[in-house]
Amino acid sequence: MPEPATPSYLLLGPFAQLIPMAGLALKGPLRDADMPVLTNAGLLLQGAEIVATGPYDILEQQARELRADHFRPDGDAVCLPGLIDSHTHSCFAGSRARDYALRNSGSTYLEIAEAGGGIWDTVTQTRKADPTTLERLLRERCKRFTADGITTLEVKSGYGLSVEAELKMLRVIRSAAARVVQDLVPTCLAAHMVPRDFEGSAEAYLKHIENDLLPVVRTEGLADRVDAFVERSAFSPQQIGPFFEAARRMGFGITVHADQFTTGGSAAAIAGGALSADHLEASGPAEVAALANSSVIATALPGASLGLGCGYTPARALLDAGGSLAIASDFNPGSAPMGDLLAQAAILGAAEKLSNAEVLAGITFRAAAALGLNDRGRLEAGKKADLVVFPCDHYNEILYHQGRLKPVSVWKNGRCVLDLSKTAS
Ligand code: NIG
Ligand code: FE
Repeated sequence: MPEPATPSYLLLGPFAQLIPMAGLALKGPLRDADMPVLTNAGLLLQGAEIVATGPYDILEQQARELRADHFRPDGDAVCLPGLIDSHTHSCFAGSRARDYALRNSGSTYLEIAEAGGGIWDTVTQTRKADPTTLERLLRERCKRFTADGITTLEVKSGYGLSVEAELKMLRVIRSAAARVVQDLVPTCLAAHMVPRDFEGSAEAYLKHIENDLLPVVRTEGLADRVDAFVERSAFSPQQIGPFFEAARRMGFGITVHADQFTTGGSAAAIAGGALSADHLEASGPAEVAALANSSVIATALPGASLGLGCGYTPARALLDAGGSLAIASDFNPGSAPMGDLLAQAAILGAAEKLSNAEVLAGITFRAAAALGLNDRGRLEAGKKADLVVFPCDHYNEILYHQGRLKPVSVWKNGRCVLDLSKTAS
């Protein structure tokens, strides 16, 4: 048997700035002045891993000795960890443009849901779609996310809401995962709402998922996380408690759609030992304090605020209370149809007065923590070589352009997956 080839070395740089996000705390406020910035810097990779970051001149010498290949950016460039979108519903069929119009004409999200539209509408369309079509739609969306610099993408089920249709979604996500740039992190959201065709109570539906769906998800290795929508139109905190307990016993990590319109979900997330509590637009001082004192990562979803035309998650208050804050797009056909993480994170930053360090942390290492991943989100030796490069000379430019400044190159596991510079050598 021939020896497996040693992965080759690759030097990237020089970058006007390299923003490693290293050494920054997982919780609490972050000041731009404390964010490490390496100027005239480079990165040395071996295969899919980062070997070193540092002054370009020094790395260049090392690279020569190692006979490394070389990627030189075209003009000024700023390099950051690949972006992580830790909450999306990217697997779906159909459009909910009508809901959007109805809301803008005065109906509320909950009214539309209670009248039989909303999530149920997408469930109907997603159930009808064959797996090939669903996978094609998901893969097309992932291509767009690559152009946005996203290298890790969480994707929920939750538009199936029957054993068979939830499994269809999760199998589609797994099949797509082998063919897209991003690492897809699948989450089972069978507890999105009680399906309209289920004959029985909310409690009976949750038991049904626990007994008839989650064991198959485990055996097939389709997801190791579960999510639930804790809300007036879906499940109460009391109903969801035993479900989370059972899911945890089966080895699932927990994440929660919490405090979107009414409170109660964030307390259920804390009680359930969740990795993250997402939404939190309705969280008040008591919820903010409790989250900050827990290990749950609070996740703001500004795309849902923009899509619904409502207030933002109290991100400033959460950070000032000592909490951790991730920012995700919530991309879905109902409440968050835009799906542009960087634009939304920048807009949240302006609205909530977040430092650039806090916004960038929210879409890199703090988002990684929300997914329970510690192999990415910072550029340092031993981490995954997932990187995004912007055509500018200072990191301030990135959020300032509110999503209009797109990456010039993107790297996933040490491989160039997008290059608009054309000077790779
Ligand atoms: O995160 N809030 C519940 N779930 C999604 C919306 C899903 C939908 O409306 O299709 C959300 O906003
Ligand atoms: Fe969501």
